[in-house]
Amino acid sequence: MARILLTGATGLIGGAVLHHVLDRDDGTTWVCLVRCANVEQGRQRIAQRLARFTDAFTAQRLARQVEIVPGDFTCADRDMDPRLDNCTHVLHLAADTSWWGDERVYRTNHDGTLALARRAQAMPSLQRFLHVGTAMICGADAPSLVTETAYPAAEARHIVAYTVSKAATELSLAEHFPDLPVVVARPSIVVGHASLGAAPSSSILWVLRAADALRMLPCAPESHVDIVPADWVARTLVDLLMKPDLKHSLYHLSAGEHGRTSWADVIAAFEKAEPSDGVRRFRRFDLARDRAALRKRFAEVFGLDGSLKQAMLRATRAYYAFCALDLTFTNTRLLDEGFAPAPSLPDYLPVCLANSGEIVEQFADDIEMFTTLPARVPASAEDGLVMAATA
Ligand SMILES: NC(=O)c1ccc[n+]([C@@H]2O[C@H](COP(=O)([O-])OP(=O)(O)OC[C@H]3O[C@@H](n4cnc5c(N)ncnc54)[C@H](OP(=O)(O)O)[C@@H]3O)[C@@H](O)[C@H]2O)c1
Repeated sequence: MARILLTGATGLIGGAVLHHVLDRDDGTTWVCLVRCANVEQGRQRIAQRLARFTDAFTAQRLARQVEIVPGDFTCADRDMDPRLDNCTHVLHLAADTSWWGDERVYRTNHDGTLALARRAQAMPSLQRFLHVGTAMICGADAPSLVTETAYPAAEARHIVAYTVSKAATELSLAEHFPDLPVVVARPSIVVGHASLGAAPSSSILWVLRAADALRMLPCAPESHVDIVPADWVARTLVDLLMKPDLKHSLYHLSAGEHGRTSWADVIAAFEKAEPSDGVRRFRRFDLARDRAALRKRFAEVFGLDGSLKQAMLRATRAYYAFCALDLTFTNTRLLDEGFAPAPSLPDYLPVCLANSGEIVEQFADDIEMFTTLPARVPASAEDGLVMAATA
């Protein structure tokens, strides 16, 4: 019987994983390592996350099906709780996903993951340690078609400290834990849920909606974005975790060449879901040169009153830096392994828009990612913090 240690259960993808697997009655035990004062509080935190996927009553019922171990994964190597000993699988999702946390992000994501890996070394029945990284470790100078094996790369030019920490983690896992059964999954950009739309999270969806409202793009309409929904990521992670034999130890969880979306198609999908003049004319602008134009347009569309909207303008600029990269992450490994491709964004964007609230409110849901500016952030941080990889 599988006994799966899950970190990050209170997050977006962790919630999608639990929503996907609970109620299956297949004998699997899900053990969730949750930051909380006691088991009941941890259960309530998980129920709260699950309530974004289902009704409150069902969320409570599902949350009762997991084992809770109160704890912090960054101290897992000192956590001798015997409930962790006989885990057969680890699905490590927990991370500090804030963009501007700098040392704190590195300590959590890199040092913390190594602490968890040390704890996993003391799990005698362990069959797989699935570490969730990010495809964006390729940095800003990657070719438009990114393959798994080209990264981590020492010369990668990172846009945010978060991806530096994720790249370094992969290198350190490979270097220091050669005997641990580590598999790395790197999702691309996770937006929405294919059937529940924006309900589980409006993270990053607000960026697409803001770009649409601004009618401004920092790239050509023919360039692409590689976006996948949270429910598909969750399903695929669980399949990767449980498949007895895998051909590789590293996979992109991405839309790939066949599932990626051009900005022209994103715009057409918006026009179809929320018709305007039938054309939806966008202005292309230069992110570095036309800062004032973006600010002016932002003020016209959203206003710039209050710290929330100012933070949203900074976050919009930072995300635009990623949008302009025109990156597609190959998914042939995943498809060759027999996994289903991701639903395409234009197919499920309507359901996301149908249950979306105000764009500014959706950004507020994401604000934790953008609240902490590191002390040594350069003046250009609003365009994305360009860092050399420490990896
Ligand atoms: N979402 C995306 O677009 C995307 C794309 C590529 C890769 N990924 C990767 O996928 C994973 C999950 O992402 P997500 O979007 O679900 O993240 P998320 O919503 O920000 O959730 C992060 C989770 O990590 C937990 N966590 C953070 N620090 C912790 C600690 N010290 N101890 C225990 N738990 C801790 C959080 O717990 P609390 O609730 O206690 O804070 C939360 O459950 C991350 O590794 C991320 O890098 C995400």
